[in-house]
Amino acid sequence: MIISGKELSARLKAEMAGQVSSFPEKYGRVPHLVVILVGDDPASVSYVTGKAKASQVVGIKNTTIRKPVDISEDELLGLIRELNADDTVDGILVQLPLPEHISEAKVIETISKDKDVDGFHPLNVAALWQKQPCTLPCTPKGIIKMLKTAGVEIKGKRAVVIGRSNIVGLPVAKLLLDENATVTIAHSRTADLPSVTREADILVVAIGRPRFVTADMVKDGAAVIDVGVNRDPETGKLCGDVDFAAIEPKASVITPVPGGVGPMTICCLMENTIECFLNKMTPKKV
Ligand code: GUN
Repeated sequence: MIISGKELSARLKAEMAGQVSSFPEKYGRVPHLVVILVGDDPASVSYVTGKAKASQVVGIKNTTIRKPVDISEDELLGLIRELNADDTVDGILVQLPLPEHISEAKVIETISKDKDVDGFHPLNVAALWQKQPCTLPCTPKGIIKMLKTAGVEIKGKRAVVIGRSNIVGLPVAKLLLDENATVTIAHSRTADLPSVTREADILVVAIGRPRFVTADMVKDGAAVIDVGVNRDPETGKLCGDVDFAAIEPKASVITPVPGGVGPMTICCLMENTIECFLNKMTPKKV
């Protein structure tokens, strides 16, 4: 079975649109997401456009701020601080990667934790690992939603995550652990990787190499989640980290690229923006 992230995200966005339509009457306005794009990398432009389109579907106000590639770090941090102080802004996202002269770590920690819709702020990351309430990073959150919707049992299963990035590998491993899977984090230097991945009931691949995972690496009946977004070196088309054609017949469920994890990431960004808005509008008593 192919899990369509496109269909699931369309369904969830329609539900969110219904919820957001009640906000003007309840709270006097809709949530506002500000996306900052530095430079004009085509992949980043396309992601940012996707985020603006999804906002429109859900009924969230989206402001996309484009800055030249040579903007100084100070100016960018200043812009973020202004948005932090702006009460009409609920979520702030700076599209990554950034040019080399700008510290991504500084940018991420400058965004107010309460407006960090990506879930990248060190306080959100710490809260996640300490099982405290937090904003969950969008891609890992979307992956868990896809597995659950597809009816994949996570509890008691062996999960292998290939990749250990802060954005995907580490947090998705943590979320699978919290669902009571037994998790192995592997990477490009893992010795005899196929012997590790063949043990996986759930295989999540986020390594960024076209067709890195071949059919001999996958157990029959595994659930395979492909987070890769690559250009096929032969055809130039978008492709994942998994040899989809060879693995689809073996897998119980598999996500396609495009149309799999990508749309779910954006869907969870919408959900996180609504969450940040509601946290502000309906503060919890302490
Ligand atoms: N670049 C690629 N994916 C992401 C993401 O989820 N958030 C941000 N801010 N930048 C990205």
